Amino acid sequence: MKGILLAGGSGTRLHPITLAASKQLLPVYDKPMVYYPLSTLMLAGIRDIMIISTPADLPQFRRLLGDGSRFGVQFSFAEQPKPDGIAQAFLIARDWLGGQACALALGDNLIHGEHLSVLLRAAVSRPEGATVFACQVRDPERYGVVTFDEAGHALEIVEKPAMPQSNWAVTGLYFYDKRVGELAASIQPSARGELEITDLNKLYLEEGTLHVERLGRGAAWLDAGTPDSLMQAATFVQTIQSRQGMLVGSPEEVAFRKGFIDVEQLRAHAKQLGKTELGRFLSDLADGHV
Ligand code: G1P
Repeated sequence: MKGILLAGGSGTRLHPITLAASKQLLPVYDKPMVYYPLSTLMLAGIRDIMIISTPADLPQFRRLLGDGSRFGVQFSFAEQPKPDGIAQAFLIARDWLGGQACALALGDNLIHGEHLSVLLRAAVSRPEGATVFACQVRDPERYGVVTFDEAGHALEIVEKPAMPQSNWAVTGLYFYDKRVGELAASIQPSARGELEITDLNKLYLEEGTLHVERLGRGAAWLDAGTPDSLMQAATFVQTIQSRQGMLVGSPEEVAFRKGFIDVEQLRAHAKQLGKTELGRFLSDLADGHV
């Protein structure tokens, strides 16, 4: 399975910070925002990843991430000239996808939780249909909202409903089967002029192949698209890392634990990060202390 990391958009809810800087490169505590969804894709075992961003920001992503060999993965880069919707990512990536199954992670979403890698593996190995993750939030009207019947089956998904029928929001992490390029091409722009990811999910829902995985108390889902949520995400990462001594959102750590890089490559990362806490943690990991 391939993976797309979408880091486009103009980040209007973070103006003026994002007038001259990409939202997804802003720091979330000690790492660039994009490291978090990148780590999630890698945790799912995905090693062939396309980064999509604006023409202005793409060079910075190339500079930060390189070709991927540092993390034992392969990065490709493509431009999204205008923010015409999340589902457009599959049209931009269509040739590169070559008819394969694909996951999509939004560059401002952070998911952390127990058993996440088990859920991710299950999503990757489902041969047909799509998998999305839903999480309870206090402000569902900001998101795609899913309702369930009494048996727990997804009934309906509505994008940013004025009157949400549930508090289950669809997170920015999606897994699709190999028909995704074809199905994305059949979607029409919404009233706000975007190719909506919710419309793609609805196609799978209507044919009965959308698997909605509900994330419970053991999981945290954060986005970092507003000043408050950016601050909350940073505080969350700081709290877990300093209290529990566990890294959140480190592609270096995931690469090592998944066997994408060896211990010498991990040591090289630690050395490059110098005297930072992150560098110290990776060095301890290489020494077998964590
Ligand atoms: C997008 C999707 C929405 C989803 C959200 C997750 O919203 O359209 O369905 O719940 O990402 O972060 P946007 O970030 O475009 O407001």
